[in-house]
Amino acid sequence: MVKEKLGTAVFISGRGSNFKNLINFSKKKNSPIVIKLLISNNKYAKGISYALNNKIKKKNFDFKNSKKAEKLALDILKKNKIKLICLAGFMKILSKNFIKKFKGKIINIHPSLLPKYKGLNTHARVLMNNEKFSGCTVHFVNSKLDSGQIILQKKIKIKKRDTIRSLERKILKEEYKIYPKAITKILSKN
Ligand code: GAR
Repeated sequence: MVKEKLGTAVFISGRGSNFKNLINFSKKKNSPIVIKLLISNNKYAKGISYALNNKIKKKNFDFKNSKKAEKLALDILKKNKIKLICLAGFMKILSKNFIKKFKGKIINIHPSLLPKYKGLNTHARVLMNNEKFSGCTVHFVNSKLDSGQIILQKKIKIKKRDTIRSLERKILKEEYKIYPKAITKILSKN
């Protein structure tokens, strides 16, 4: 029997390259998800174009009033029968109340070896501290920034000649691999 694909929403704030990658993943025959909705908090986010190109429903909410935005988001998530939320460069912290409604069903990707280097400007801080390794992490979301149980992590070696840009490029490449893997991992346990 073919298992029905899980209705998924992706939340973004900007470029959306992980969103694009997840769309490609979702189209694979063996993928456990179907992306039904894009939510952004920035109406100029470049990533919105991938929703348009792929006929994925999209909504923009102004998170300056986060309580209102979360309420509107919850309504539309419910309407679209969303069962999994993937944060992909979504630069807002979701409230405890919101997370409770999707307990164990919200995941995030972050470009560092968490719990190290939570927050912004990760690569610059990593380089400034002369770290030998960096990487990326997919984790369950809780109400603290870039925290929550780790699902998968990929470590990469930093070279002397690495810059913020080269590190970002190398780590993004790994992000594109581990995000789909992490989704498959958590859903194969259901
Ligand atoms: C990615 O590197 C992602 O790991 C990071 O933002 C970038 C978004 O790029 N997320 C965080 O820093 C979360 N704290 P994208 O919009 O091209 O996917």
